[in-house]
Amino acid sequence: MTDPTPPSPGGHVRRLSVPLSPFWTGEIKSFPTSDEKKAEDDDNEAIGSPRVSSRGIIEVPMTEIAFFPLPMDDAASDERALLPENRPSRTGISSSRLLSRVPSVVKATEDQPGEIVDIDKTPPISAEPDTTSVSSDTTVASSSDSVKSEFSENTAGSIWEDVPMAKPDAILGIAKEYQQCTNPRKVNVCVGAYRDENGKPWVLPSVRQAERILWEDETQTKEYLPIDGDREFVQCAMRFAYGPDVPLEHLAGVQTLSGTGACRVGGTFLAAFWPNHPIYCPNPTWGNHITIFKECGLDVRRYRYYDRANNGLDLSGMLRDLQKAPRGSIILLHACAHNPTGCDPTIHEWKQIISMIGQRDHVAFFDCAYQGFASGDAEADAAPFRYAVSQRVPIVLAQSFAKNFGLYGERCGSLSVVCGDAEQKERILSELRLVIRPMYSSPPRHGSSIVKTILKDEQLTKQYYEECASMARRIQRMRTKLVECLSTMSKHDWSHIKRQIGMFAFTGLTPDMCHQLTNEYYIFLTTNGRISIAGLNDSNVEYVANAIHAVTDGKSMS
Ligand code: LMR
Repeated sequence: MTDPTPPSPGGHVRRLSVPLSPFWTGEIKSFPTSDEKKAEDDDNEAIGSPRVSSRGIIEVPMTEIAFFPLPMDDAASDERALLPENRPSRTGISSSRLLSRVPSVVKATEDQPGEIVDIDKTPPISAEPDTTSVSSDTTVASSSDSVKSEFSENTAGSIWEDVPMAKPDAILGIAKEYQQCTNPRKVNVCVGAYRDENGKPWVLPSVRQAERILWEDETQTKEYLPIDGDREFVQCAMRFAYGPDVPLEHLAGVQTLSGTGACRVGGTFLAAFWPNHPIYCPNPTWGNHITIFKECGLDVRRYRYYDRANNGLDLSGMLRDLQKAPRGSIILLHACAHNPTGCDPTIHEWKQIISMIGQRDHVAFFDCAYQGFASGDAEADAAPFRYAVSQRVPIVLAQSFAKNFGLYGERCGSLSVVCGDAEQKERILSELRLVIRPMYSSPPRHGSSIVKTILKDEQLTKQYYEECASMARRIQRMRTKLVECLSTMSKHDWSHIKRQIGMFAFTGLTPDMCHQLTNEYYIFLTTNGRISIAGLNDSNVEYVANAIHAVTDGKSMS
């Protein structure tokens, strides 16, 4: 082993010491630390400095490879001391990948053991573009054709030849078709996003107010949030979901990329720490649930939920399936405003469901995407999972602020795991951070700043609750009006639409009928017969009712 070379005066002369160990020839399998997981952790911790010790030495287990003594007062030099190809990625590189890059440094000195490499002479790593080789404007303009041909003739064209065209998304793909449709009569009842009486997206006035407050607050920055998000936001989100008096020390809560991100982080956590337990989703469910949980590596199964013959909850089928599911299964539940059916259990039915989950030692994974949308009362909509907590059922909760705060594109949500005690909470939090860090590093800050600004302010919270209720009321009014219109002309029974709740109506239309609505009437809906009631207003509801009547008249709906 060679002693670290002392830093050169004012410089970054670094000594690379050989001989090489077999370690560098790719035998990463023999990674020698006793706890490989720990090494991975260390790597993930060491952003921009692969295991640089407190003495500024790059520590490589098992061997005498490289010493990069660094002046301790210059954190930036950690990065500058590393050759570009040796610089760790910021996306959470694994130890084997990280270390596999190191030989390129060593190779430079392989033939001359002990050679001193002056790293200061290597090109600096800089965010600034190299302007020295930029051509004049005229040259750039005239070379655009050749640049284009460089792209089209690039080998990428041939290596990607076998990549197939993926199917468009079952929901967002149709939303895109709607955007492209030029017919003035077109109606978007496809995607679950609130529209006002004029069919326009609505930014809640309380959200605008919160943005004004943030805009004027000069202490606000654009710094990275921590991996698990804004702590104050998470606390607000937990109180919003579980109630104002929730003991926060029992909740391992993290900020996520809306409800989808929460499901993904939660599913990944469960796959690692509750392995070999299938997840049961309602049939039907939001299509993305199935893909998300499969991507997490979970065994995705279904339980009976909706009785299409009676257009209502199949409670007995559901309870039987929950009973038959292997002990300890994960049961995905829509906390309220079930998507796509709009069919929620009553509180009495919830009690039976939670009781069965408890008897079978299942884990209840609540996806709460519509708190406030179902009844218009965010407190009442939280009743199912608050009841489940009271029954001591293990709970994982995915929370979205897309619909209830109208923060769709801000990707704001949370995931929480109810824990036995504060120590357990810390352990779970640490593992959730490990899931998040290599996935997207840390969440965006704007949406969570808005939610926290509203929920920390009593007056704004009151205003927000009223605005959320007003969205639910408008949806309810459109639901009633659609059924009333249909009843005046159709012989079919549409009363189930009135019994349903939340953003959607599960009409019972067949896929053929849905296609006909789109092709002949420019009404864009998902092919499972789901209509987003939020897309209806006084100007289009009769048109939609007439079209539904036209495609269903005299036809069987079963
Ligand atoms: C929906 O179901 O339409 C929404 O949740 C939007 C989405 O991402 O699918």
